[in-house]
Amino acid sequence: MTSRRDFIKYSALSASALSLSPSMLSAIESGEILKRAIPSSGEELPAVGLGSSATFSRMARSDDATGLRNVLTTLLDNAGTVFDTAQGYGASEEVAGQYVGELGLQDKLFWATKFNAAGRGGGRADVEAARAQIEDSFRYFGKTPIDCMQVHNLGDLEAQLPIAKELKQDGRVRYIGTTNTRPQRVGELADVMRNEELDFIGLDYAVDNRGAAEELLPLAQERGIGVFVYAPFGRTRLWSRVKGVDLPEWAAEIGVNSWAQFFIKYVLAHPAVTVVTPATTKPKNMLDNLGGAVGPLPDAAMQTRMAEFVDALPSA
Ligand SMILES: NC(=O)c1ccc[n+]([C@@H]2O[C@H](COP(=O)([O-])OP(=O)(O)OC[C@H]3O[C@@H](n4cnc5c(N)ncnc54)[C@H](OP(=O)(O)O)[C@@H]3O)[C@@H](O)[C@H]2O)c1
Repeated sequence: MTSRRDFIKYSALSASALSLSPSMLSAIESGEILKRAIPSSGEELPAVGLGSSATFSRMARSDDATGLRNVLTTLLDNAGTVFDTAQGYGASEEVAGQYVGELGLQDKLFWATKFNAAGRGGGRADVEAARAQIEDSFRYFGKTPIDCMQVHNLGDLEAQLPIAKELKQDGRVRYIGTTNTRPQRVGELADVMRNEELDFIGLDYAVDNRGAAEELLPLAQERGIGVFVYAPFGRTRLWSRVKGVDLPEWAAEIGVNSWAQFFIKYVLAHPAVTVVTPATTKPKNMLDNLGGAVGPLPDAAMQTRMAEFVDALPSA
């Protein structure tokens, strides 16, 4: 297995090339990264994980997906555990499951997956197809229980949430939830949060996409629901906005060495956030992202400063 030190040695990257300060490196190496408790159980998770749509799913369906093996081992060798995937992400879950199986790493991972046999815009789910997706996930991961099984994109919750509940009751999954990243369905997600016993929700939240802080994040705190934050970089949106822009000097006050850490620390500053799961295909970006869970987080004044700085940049 490639350790962080080996990774740095083999790739001839210095700490600065990795956007990590020496203290950040040593914190990551010794596992001293921010952890947050899942409200329904108290189990602690490292606050930065790995997502698997976007570039990850593109690489998973390419001719050579071996880079993803390095990203997964970089996550696990450096105090991370949470991997967010879904049946809807093409080959991501199958390819990741294959590597994790080959490396014998199932026990180190927190495997969070999703199913949905209804269309993203609504419609009835084919329950047999939903169950078939779930069985695929068990086959890909190769281990029972699966840590978290969510209904993707609020898909036909009337039919599909009972399936998730049944899996939890049977001990085949440990936590259940549902996800949404569409602004027009925020009200529906809030209703489910009020009316159902969920362990997790997944939503989009970023320094330039702060809507979740208005209703959903406070509601998650009130209801004791864990939160996965998706798209902390807005996929490519924030990268376009900061292209050619230097980090402000004051970002050093919260130990930020890169834009990724700036964006991740902004998100983690909200106490309702349990884990943020950026997607990446690059070990050096995985380490950079883990750096966002090291050191101080912004206070309210700093968060305002960060948001104002980004708001003043041209839109993507
Ligand atoms: N409805 C849902 O349930 C839902 C919706 C959206 C997302 N999600 C989940 O959340 C995850 C994250 O969202 P996302 O993938 O849409 O977008 P994202 O995490 O905001 O951004 C991913 C992009 O950022 C780049 N990147 C990652 N780390 C970087 C770094 N340190 N420096 C520079 N670039 C970096 C990646 O490219 P490289 O590969 O080049 O690093 C990729 O292009 C998804 O993968 C998925 O697991 C769930």
